[in-house]
Amino acid sequence: MQKLQDKELELIPFIRGAIKLYQKKKGYRFSIDSVLLADFVNIRKKGKLIDLGTGTGIILLLLSLRYKNLEFYGLEIQKDLYNIAKENFKINKLEVDLKLGDVKEIKNLYKENLFDFVVANPPFHKKTGKKYTTEEEKIAKEETLATVEDFLKAGKYLLKDRGKFFMINKSDRLIETIHKCVILKLIPKRLRFIHPTVNEKSTHFLIECVKNAKLSGEIIEKPLILYKDSKSKIYTQEVEKILNEFRR
Ligand SMILES: C[S@@+](CC[C@H](N)C(=O)[O-])C[C@H]1O[C@@H](n2cnc3c(N)ncnc32)[C@H](O)[C@@H]1O
Repeated sequence: MQKLQDKELELIPFIRGAIKLYQKKKGYRFSIDSVLLADFVNIRKKGKLIDLGTGTGIILLLLSLRYKNLEFYGLEIQKDLYNIAKENFKINKLEVDLKLGDVKEIKNLYKENLFDFVVANPPFHKKTGKKYTTEEEKIAKEETLATVEDFLKAGKYLLKDRGKFFMINKSDRLIETIHKCVILKLIPKRLRFIHPTVNEKSTHFLIECVKNAKLSGEIIEKPLILYKDSKSKIYTQEVEKILNEFRR
């Protein structure tokens, strides 16, 4: 790893030690969003999969537990995160072709129609002027260096015909996202809404789109409830199960 002081990093065992990964103590740290997106990915054949905005690599590490027949690729713009992800793939013995680069420059980085699957947990907050502890976290969470649309456009460019795009985003950006997807011919085929508790409105959604598919036939899955109640913040059985044994 290009020398990030070890004291800035901590090594976290995850999924009962099935994977381990370095994260900065201060900076961008993955959240349950990445885990729920990886769990939502649904693949039944071999192929090439790319994670746009790889961060520290959590999504690819999780997917590698479930899918043994995929070729993994990643693209990350922030040098520190890129270096940490490289190290995380190395210590978990996962082969990933990871590039340092910008989704907006996708045409200079990859050939068109190369991938069967694209996964993205993009920065999904619009620019608000909100203060973040670090610039790294801001770039990861707020549309600073790329918008959701830039991620969708990159996904569309990279995917083969009928390739699948999986993404998580905020529920208050649902219509905007679907509208952009349809314009780009990334046709939404499966949606799942995430709710903090059973009585609260949805905060996030998971979406699967298929490039150049026909409209209609979409599946709205049962809601994904995070916590048993808003006070205790104890995860529901479904989320606990995902966290305990990521394998299917
Ligand atoms: C919400 S984080 C997700 C990181 C990781 N996939 C995860 O789930 O923990 C968004 C990631 O996108 C990266 N990113 C932001 N703008 C980008 C751009 N223009 N090109 C490539 N990656 C970008 C950020 O640096 C960050 O790592």
